[in-house]
Amino acid sequence: MYPETQIDLARQVFDHLDAHTTALADAVTINPVTAYTCPERLAQELELIRSEPILMGLSAKIPKAGDYLTDNNTGIPILVVRGHDGTVRAFVNACRHRGTMLVSGEGHIRNRIVCPYHAWSYDLDGGLAVVPHKDAFEGFDLASCQLKALPACERDGLIWVRPTGEAPIDPDDHLGGLADEFQSYGFAGYHHYKTRRIACAMNWKIIIDTFLEPYHFAVLHRETVAPIFFPNLCLFDAFGRNLRETLPRRTIVELRSQPPETWDVIKHTAIVYVLFPNTVFVMQADHAEVWRVFPCNDRSDQSVVLLEFYTPEPVTNDKARGHWERNMDLVVRTVEQEDFPTGEDAQRVYKSGTLDTVAYGKNEPALAFFEKTIAAAIGHSMG
Ligand code: FES
Ligand SMILES: [Fe+2]
Repeated sequence: MYPETQIDLARQVFDHLDAHTTALADAVTINPVTAYTCPERLAQELELIRSEPILMGLSAKIPKAGDYLTDNNTGIPILVVRGHDGTVRAFVNACRHRGTMLVSGEGHIRNRIVCPYHAWSYDLDGGLAVVPHKDAFEGFDLASCQLKALPACERDGLIWVRPTGEAPIDPDDHLGGLADEFQSYGFAGYHHYKTRRIACAMNWKIIIDTFLEPYHFAVLHRETVAPIFFPNLCLFDAFGRNLRETLPRRTIVELRSQPPETWDVIKHTAIVYVLFPNTVFVMQADHAEVWRVFPCNDRSDQSVVLLEFYTPEPVTNDKARGHWERNMDLVVRTVEQEDFPTGEDAQRVYKSGTLDTVAYGKNEPALAFFEKTIAAAIGHSMG
């Protein structure tokens, strides 16, 4: 993050601290609970997620030529692979012979992608290279049997894929003015520590909602988060359809006695971004967390979260591993024991049909913006 942005954010925080205020939306926002329960709405949202550039993670997930990852979270089987030329490409993870998935999980391909069924083999750029007993396909257009390519882009350490459609990805356009800020973090040099998968019995948007206001810190996170962060104090900024929510740590007051040009605001905040439509990207003081959130099983009340930890330095010894393992455990424990049970309870209430609407206070501007942006993208409006 550029120094001038850091100074600006810190000054806003100090003003709020002095005035006992927080960033406010213009008005209270009302949302019908059907936003979280309606199956048709969920189908529209899934369509939206599939049609947008989705963050697959940082470059560190596939750092070397031949490294690959797969992703089935949108219902589209996606294979992302770094070619021998270093370029990241994405394909539908399906053999052009009989449709078998070519690879699973994450890993490394030494030479070619070999189908496990009859060994059709593809080059890492998707071209069909080998067909055993090729003469059996005489008269069939094997030349058109390259893997189906999906729009993909790697920029500043971020890997994007559009699961459906052919429009190329322009990260500058998608990030709506955040591209320079993301470039400034230097994510291309980060390392992937670990990914954890959490299944949740609630709507995918409720999971994202939990990140978008510190109003609940003093109550729900009395003993975990509240001692570290100021409750009910955040800054909010919109960037196109993306957002940035700045959550100051209590230690930020130390900066007041130091010259502004030396302020390291990242050390004293958690910066929460929502990268439209479904990624929560948290810049923590000393690492980055990517929370990839997806609806699951075509259900409005089931979701999956993939939490990825990235560190600026590689984790190479037991001491560092112990540190990051404890760090990740604490994060997962907090959401699993505090945030997510509350969200799952709310989902049960919504399902019961006993509540028509929910309200987002003026002090929850990031939350209201996220819900409004998703609603608007699928043609719904909110009060
Ligand atoms: S399905 Fe892939 S080679 Fe037959
Ligand atoms: Fe929380």
